[in-house]
Amino acid sequence: MIGIIGAMQEEVDLLLSGLCDAVEMNRSGIRFHTGTLHGKPVVICKCGVGKVNAAVYTQVLIDRFNANKVIFTGVAGALDPELNIGDIVISTSCQQHDMDVTPLGFARGVIPFQEVSDWPADPELVAIAVEAGEKAAPGRCKKGKILSGDQFIADRDKVRELHETFGGACTEMEGAAVAQACAMNEVPYVVIRSMSDKADGSASVNFAEFTVEASNRSYAIVNEMLRKL
Ligand code: ADE
Repeated sequence: MIGIIGAMQEEVDLLLSGLCDAVEMNRSGIRFHTGTLHGKPVVICKCGVGKVNAAVYTQVLIDRFNANKVIFTGVAGALDPELNIGDIVISTSCQQHDMDVTPLGFARGVIPFQEVSDWPADPELVAIAVEAGEKAAPGRCKKGKILSGDQFIADRDKVRELHETFGGACTEMEGAAVAQACAMNEVPYVVIRSMSDKADGSASVNFAEFTVEASNRSYAIVNEMLRKL
């Protein structure tokens, strides 16, 4: 069973429009849709905002629907100055940028007493996502580290700081939680993010403007990935 978590209603609606043998159900107060896409069994849900929502949704996908792969798609703010609005980042890994236990001597982003704080994405899912991304948006698809925090970033200095401290390609609010939940359950994952803004002073305006375009692109990538899986 392939678990697909979409951040935006638009892309989830596009996925649902192609779903065969669709069944809708509620679990833990969350609406899930099961069925097949390109003959593959899938379970689709729309994620709430932030890391706690993302972790719970992922755990429910794994526990209650036996998801053995998780694909997360949505939009993000670009941190890498070479990225433009509309470009796509496929996760090589995800880390929480707002995890901060520095007063106790831990580096920024490090979860104390845990071996891993920067969870690698599954290489096979990454390769399939890159191939699908190249098809959907030729020349605009990059692999990179994704940073997550319970913050919408709209500040150029913060962008520079996050890029320099963590080497992140883009920032969003869920990926690292999905990654951690998947790692704890030994389930492979990949996060696919379309850049809706540059996380600067124009971020809120750009976010609103480019979300629909980004949703269409994310949908095209997931749809193509499902052919290959
Ligand atoms: N998702 C899309 N843009 C974002 C931003 N600038 N900060 C956090 N999450 C985002």
